[in-house]
Amino acid sequence: MDPISEIKQKLDIVDLVGGYVEIKKSGHNYKGICPFHGEKTPSLMVSPELQIFKCFGCGEAGDIFAFYRKIEGVEFGPALEALADRVGVKLEKKAYDPESSVKKMLFEINSLASQYFNYILTKHKVGTKALDYVKNTRRLTDETIQNFSIGYSPDVFDGLLKFLQTKKFTPEQVVLAGLATTGKRPNTYIDKFRGRIMFPLTGIDKKVIGFTSRSLDGSEPKYLNSPETLIFHKSSFIFGLDKAKVAIKHDGAIFVEGQMDLIAAHQAGISNVVASSGTSLSTIQLKILERYTKDITFAFDSDLAGVRAMHRAIELAEQQGFNIKVAMIPSGFKDLDELIQADPKKAKSIFRESIPAYDFFLVSALRRNNKNDPIGKRKIMDELTEIFRKMADPVLRDHYVKKISQEVGVSEAVVADLIKNTKGGEKIYDTKSQVVFSSRAVPSEVKTPPSLSVRRMPEEYILALILRAPLDTAQSVLYKLGQKDFTDPSLLQLFTELKRYLLGRKRKFEIQHFIKRFANDVQDKLNELYLWDLQETGEDEENLIKELEKVFYLLKKSTAKREMLEISQRIKQAELAGEKDLLSQLSREFKELSEKLL
Ligand code: UTP
Ligand code: MN
Repeated sequence: MDPISEIKQKLDIVDLVGGYVEIKKSGHNYKGICPFHGEKTPSLMVSPELQIFKCFGCGEAGDIFAFYRKIEGVEFGPALEALADRVGVKLEKKAYDPESSVKKMLFEINSLASQYFNYILTKHKVGTKALDYVKNTRRLTDETIQNFSIGYSPDVFDGLLKFLQTKKFTPEQVVLAGLATTGKRPNTYIDKFRGRIMFPLTGIDKKVIGFTSRSLDGSEPKYLNSPETLIFHKSSFIFGLDKAKVAIKHDGAIFVEGQMDLIAAHQAGISNVVASSGTSLSTIQLKILERYTKDITFAFDSDLAGVRAMHRAIELAEQQGFNIKVAMIPSGFKDLDELIQADPKKAKSIFRESIPAYDFFLVSALRRNNKNDPIGKRKIMDELTEIFRKMADPVLRDHYVKKISQEVGVSEAVVADLIKNTKGGEKIYDTKSQVVFSSRAVPSEVKTPPSLSVRRMPEEYILALILRAPLDTAQSVLYKLGQKDFTDPSLLQLFTELKRYLLGRKRKFEIQHFIKRFANDVQDKLNELYLWDLQETGEDEENLIKELEKVFYLLKKSTAKREMLEISQRIKQAELAGEKDLLSQLSREFKELSEKLL
């Protein structure tokens, strides 16, 4: 058997999906809240018989591999490897790749280093002071320390080097991993991180690819990261994504500036938080984030540097079509971490109360300057001019001219004049800034599940019901239905095959077997019908039969209507052609049909 089929046989989609979201039995299928778009009422359906899932809200659908790829944000290859690994299916070894063997070594070194630092912090007396700082000053719990594998690098030249040498790694290899540097004298090496709190950086697959670290004694730099290596690329790394990804799919992403802000947030139960850790947000990071969500809330520091960083980040994220909000850190608190330590409830509420990016710039400028003082007013307007000048959308512009005028106490005319773009009239209307500032805040297209009446066209609905009805009921309904009752070609094909398959059948209907008769597009339709949640209908026999009767009547009615339309057209033609016999025959048929409709 090929590995794909073998994996499919061993891994039940209900278990796979159930590992990420709560799903409950609903008739033949399972139902739950879709992790791929924000929703409150469940529209994710999972079929154990067909081994597929489909969300009737956002349209995501497929088998175990499709689900895994989407939720983990990986390509098919890694998905195959991960799932094979999970169920113990052996994949053929890939051709030898020298680079990948070096990468493997770097992963090993990083993983060992992470264990070493964690051991020093939590178990060794060299780590006592650091542990006291982490637990008592930063208020991290033992659980958080383990969850993030936080550690301490002792303040000696070659603690890690010596440890890794006992594991048979050479100093050159440790340098390659970014954990040591060469010393002043030839052939000497020193640990890169000394006397620092260590935070492993883990990739989406939980492998350690590098470290970020904070000095313990206030020495500079406060934060120090691993250098770029074969496995660590700062600009494409998002700190915390491995832990936040599932929550992000559901709630959107919260972006914070600092590592400690992120850790404190997770500890406080805010689990959709990520950070870019020491670099400004990059296009690649946004591209990666896009696999999980289009909604970002920024919660940067409230100082001017934080506002500047946020401004750049917002510009970039807008270009890439994200929906952006800002959570305001209340005055008196420097960053999210401080707020959480002081008032965790309040910290959670700032995300509920997050505001559009432009309102944030206004509020934050007002907060940092005194608008009643002429110089303060000048500063506020300078700051705002720089930001709002790039706004291309005339409606937004008008809105904010009014708002700024009111809030800052400057006349509308002056505000409008200031933000009119002083640097050469055309520049702001170039294509880039058009994209930047006019495409903002287009809500990501989340389709709400269509209402029943819309979704359940009788000719579809009746097939969905027949697929689940007891055999004899299904047979008797099918018997009374004809090709003329179906207008959609796939539905017609489904009906025809279903009739052929079920009439005269003695054994129970088997969807897995039946579906093999169709080409892909018809299979998709069949999957969809079979995944429809008929819970409101009630899937017990009595309700199903009642519902079938109702739909059967509706379907026949719409068929009759269609036929009457056709006949009335033919009547017109017969009149024009003066064909009297035909005319009277058609009129009779028309009358019979209209009687049926009553
Ligand atoms: P802050 O100086 O605001 O630090 O830098 P912080 O996040 O509040 O850290 P704590 O609470 O004192 O531990 C904000 C972010 O800028 C990056 C780090 O990512 C930091 O979290 N930074 C700061 C560096 O990369 N290097 C530095 O030397 C300082
Ligand atoms: Mn801080």
